[in-house]
Amino acid sequence: MSQLRSINDFTKIKDKKIFLRVDFNVPISGGRVSDTTKIEKLETNINHLLKNNCKIILASHLGRPQKNGKTGLSLLPVKHMAEKIFNQQIEFLEINHLTKQKIDEGEKKLFMLENLRFDPGEETNSQDYANLLSSFAEIYINEAFSCSHRAHASIHSITKFIDSYAGSTIIDEVNALEKVFSKSKKPVACLVGGSKISSKIDLITNLMPKMDFMIIGGAMANNFFKNDGYNIGKSLFEKNVENTIKQIYEEADKHNCKLILPTDVVCSKKFDQPGVNKRINEVNDDDIILDIGIDSTNKIDQTLKVSKTVLWNGPFGLFEYDNFANGTNDISHSIAKYSKKNGLISIAGGGDTFAAIKKSNQQHNFTYISTAGGAFLEWLEGKMLPGLKVLENN
Ligand code: 3PG
Repeated sequence: MSQLRSINDFTKIKDKKIFLRVDFNVPISGGRVSDTTKIEKLETNINHLLKNNCKIILASHLGRPQKNGKTGLSLLPVKHMAEKIFNQQIEFLEINHLTKQKIDEGEKKLFMLENLRFDPGEETNSQDYANLLSSFAEIYINEAFSCSHRAHASIHSITKFIDSYAGSTIIDEVNALEKVFSKSKKPVACLVGGSKISSKIDLITNLMPKMDFMIIGGAMANNFFKNDGYNIGKSLFEKNVENTIKQIYEEADKHNCKLILPTDVVCSKKFDQPGVNKRINEVNDDDIILDIGIDSTNKIDQTLKVSKTVLWNGPFGLFEYDNFANGTNDISHSIAKYSKKNGLISIAGGGDTFAAIKKSNQQHNFTYISTAGGAFLEWLEGKMLPGLKVLENN
């Protein structure tokens, strides 16, 4: 990727009106924000802009109002939480032809726009809507890597109408991802978990040429067990993935990447019953595979011990249930241990992976954890992210 126009290189930020595209698409339960990570991440940047006497217009989407209706998707609860986190009063504004005037005449330094997706023009990448949004400010900064796979008005078209930059959180994210992809220290290990092999095939095949070890776990490994002739009982699997699996084996051979699959698993008959550790050839007809086993976690630990870089996406078991969280938890602890002890460069991403790392309380011991889901995967799949493309230097 060519160089992004970074806000860090822009020296005339003082006294400016800034349109800050953020990702405040956060979980809300009972009218309150239940996870504040995405908001907290912006605190330093906002303080920096406030110190420079900037007016900041925070702009985000929340959920899918065009599909599901607007109820419960106002950003007002996010405004209340952001006021607490930033310790600043925020003026909340509807988006219409009066918004610009309210910002210009407003006493406050921080503004938050109502859900960008309340207007259909956001998702259709409407030029008119983008033009209206751009009229609110002098400078546009995208701090929403996690939304940059969307060619939406506030991410894409808006950059045609206003001086636009990549924010420092985007620069950090891209730098972290490049440590895995193009500037990696070898050996590089990749852990891919989750339930659907079909949703990760592009990721695996794009990464395989760069990886020394590809470690596969979670329910997607069941497809490999089944393909190799093992009984997987009542475990989750996908139909018609024989060619996908064949392709993964072939790519691994071609690129000299060692494919590592679990050799033992934790099975149960029900999610609320404790599991039993079994070799992969001991699974019964009524078993459900819900975690990787002890031998497998030890093997992964040994692989991580000799690795210099690791990328992790996707849990290795049903970690939401304590009986089946051990595999994922142990992986999180191993990565954290070698990051501290051996200087392992550890990059993780995806919503479930982040939740699993938080559950193991190791989030501060990773080199970088991305809160992005779709955008993180698409970048690693080698796809061009429209929101980054428009911020590249020509
Ligand atoms: C996210 O939460 O991953 C981003 O906000 C993107 O949300 P979207 O999938 O609704 O575009």
